[in-house]
Amino acid sequence: MGIHVNEEQQLFHLQTAKTSYIFKILENGQAGQLYYGPKIPVKKDYQNLASREEHDCTNTLTVDQGDFQLELIKQEYAGLGKGDYRYPAYQITYPNGSRISEFAYTGYKLAKGKKRLGDLPSTFDDRGDDAQTLTVRFKDELANVRLDLHYTVFEKEDVIVRSATFTNHGEPITLNRALSAQLDLPDSDYDLLQFSGTWARERHLIRTHLRSGVQSISSLRDASSHQQNPFFILARPHTDNNQGAAFGFNFIYSGNFLDSVEVDQFDTTRVLVGINPDEFGWRLDNGDSFQTPEAVMTYTDQGLNQLSQQLGSFYADHLINPHFAHEERPILINNWEATFMDFNEAKLMPIVKKAHELGIEMFVLDDGWFGHRDNDRSSLGDWFVDQKKFTNGISGFAKKVHEQGLKFGLWFEPEMISIDSKLYEKHPDWMISTPGRQSTPARNQYVLDMTRPEVVDYLVDHISAIIKQTKLDYIKWDMNRNITEMYGSKLGADRQLEFAHRYILGVYQLYSRLTNAFPKVLFESCASGGGRFDLGMMYYAPQAWCSDDTDAVERIKIQDGTSYGYTPSMWGAHVSAVPNDQVGRLTSIETRAAVAYFGDFGYELDITKLPADQLATIKKQVAFYKQYRHLFQQGTFYRLENPDTASQNVYGWQVVSADKTEAVAARFQILNGANPAYIRFYFQGLDPDKTYTVNGGKEKFSGAELMHVGYFVPRIMDRTKPEKDPSDFSAHLFVVKEA
Ligand code: DGJ
Repeated sequence: MGIHVNEEQQLFHLQTAKTSYIFKILENGQAGQLYYGPKIPVKKDYQNLASREEHDCTNTLTVDQGDFQLELIKQEYAGLGKGDYRYPAYQITYPNGSRISEFAYTGYKLAKGKKRLGDLPSTFDDRGDDAQTLTVRFKDELANVRLDLHYTVFEKEDVIVRSATFTNHGEPITLNRALSAQLDLPDSDYDLLQFSGTWARERHLIRTHLRSGVQSISSLRDASSHQQNPFFILARPHTDNNQGAAFGFNFIYSGNFLDSVEVDQFDTTRVLVGINPDEFGWRLDNGDSFQTPEAVMTYTDQGLNQLSQQLGSFYADHLINPHFAHEERPILINNWEATFMDFNEAKLMPIVKKAHELGIEMFVLDDGWFGHRDNDRSSLGDWFVDQKKFTNGISGFAKKVHEQGLKFGLWFEPEMISIDSKLYEKHPDWMISTPGRQSTPARNQYVLDMTRPEVVDYLVDHISAIIKQTKLDYIKWDMNRNITEMYGSKLGADRQLEFAHRYILGVYQLYSRLTNAFPKVLFESCASGGGRFDLGMMYYAPQAWCSDDTDAVERIKIQDGTSYGYTPSMWGAHVSAVPNDQVGRLTSIETRAAVAYFGDFGYELDITKLPADQLATIKKQVAFYKQYRHLFQQGTFYRLENPDTASQNVYGWQVVSADKTEAVAARFQILNGANPAYIRFYFQGLDPDKTYTVNGGKEKFSGAELMHVGYFVPRIMDRTKPEKDPSDFSAHLFVVKEA
């Protein structure tokens, strides 16, 4: 089993297939971190790991236990105020205003499997045979508060999941800070890989070497955000996609988060992952508990592709709804970029019919079908059909779509309210606002107070009614603005700092009630594209709209960045019209599809306006995706190039079947170069001893040859091509099959 406890030494050794994570109880009763890295054998004690380094500090503190100095010790879950001046994992304010805690070890509990958390999205091991969970218990005697640190070991995937629970048995206290995981590492020779950007430019890789002080990624938008993603990597400087050591960290949460990396005076590194302590405070009365969301940690010494792959298979088996995790997702057509809100049944039906002819499997009706929503100024909250647009009601339209043999999906933006809506007329107080302050609109809309149970009930009732009426197959759950004037009219003054977290708990409540009531409905989360692309959402909605940017070239960078922490079945990717709506760029329909294949594939353009040759191409693309969908969605994903700079010109992706008998790869070149060197394309993840063909050609190659010698790629340079289909922005697709 993966967890070894030495009771005498009070030492805990968590082993996965390839890693070891070791900590022990220190002289003062709290836990000290000893080691996280490649697997080492279980031993009774580790003097070598536990021995303290000697440092002279100008600020030497004399503590009861002689040379015991917290600021020199790697810890598991640190507080502030006892001589460690690094940022802490938690802080509590006690009734007399003091903020010093002294948690001391009281025991541990080991359990098979991993239970789901009640109100929060979480990892799971429903069968109870894949994971082992350790809870290490601590108590602050003076205040009568308990702290439980939870560790689940997912042995096969080399993943450890952590969280903490605080339980108060004393006078009321306030949790000012309650992070989910802390990891103190012995040196700081790491690069931080973060995935940052903005709307339409999400999750671009930024790689910087760690430096002294705190560097952090965070959100205060009460959404994980377009700007920063909770996923990050610490990698040794020479680590690339194919080799080298790296730690990956992610957070199963959709609201304000903090990922902080602090390099201290002796070049040790402290990693903290959790709810952002700014805009957070939680009152715990006698008998109350607070459970933090879960943090995910993984390690490999075999490069960043391996890191992404072990996270990918972990999510598929222990985070994503099992009903969809290994299911093939439908090829959809979405009407947003085709019609925006200017549509009615008569205009949509030809798109539906044409989609059926092309082999597309689902029609998704986006924003504008409800209330009287002809622009973004009205109707959010009025979740009933606009009869002007659908004279037969939404159920009548859904029936027609189903009769065409297509599944039917609908757009909702549940958390929002327009001033011009029936909902606002009836319940103006359901809108988030701060008394006496002006409310700030964004995209002409406001946010519902999801901390109020009656708001969640209203949404469950109205959305459920539509799901039943339409026999709905899919929901796109959008969220197009962040919260301002945050205030809970039903929360007391002393609980206002609970609002941001309670809002997210309300969103999870709604997700959980709908997904439990309608287990066959596939949810796709969206927040103006990728503004809430996180593991909290993925627990309920197995896929997320990756970005509002559908330009193929921009999407390469977004999907490439996203692929470090997530897998292609987790993101929607569509072929849209050119010139592209976000950047005005012209790209060929082949390149647009080649990029979108690596994801949950779909179209988002008016197919009734395309010439016959493009429709024929789309028909072939749909058939191609169906043939290899199992690879694109469930295969093992590789990044074949090592993009390190923003000016990267070439990207390569590959998906391989588990038995290595087939693979599909693509080489994307953004700009054509003059008189370039020979282009060789190096595959990965094939069986070196198997024999393969490429694109159905006669020549046979060993896997070893394709991976090490590479495959010669002809240069794309066609002077005969018309202006609208340039040689730039090219994509080469390769289908590799065992001969
Ligand atoms: C933002 C989404 O990302 C788009 O795909 C579309 O659904 C619009 N909202 C609709 O308002």
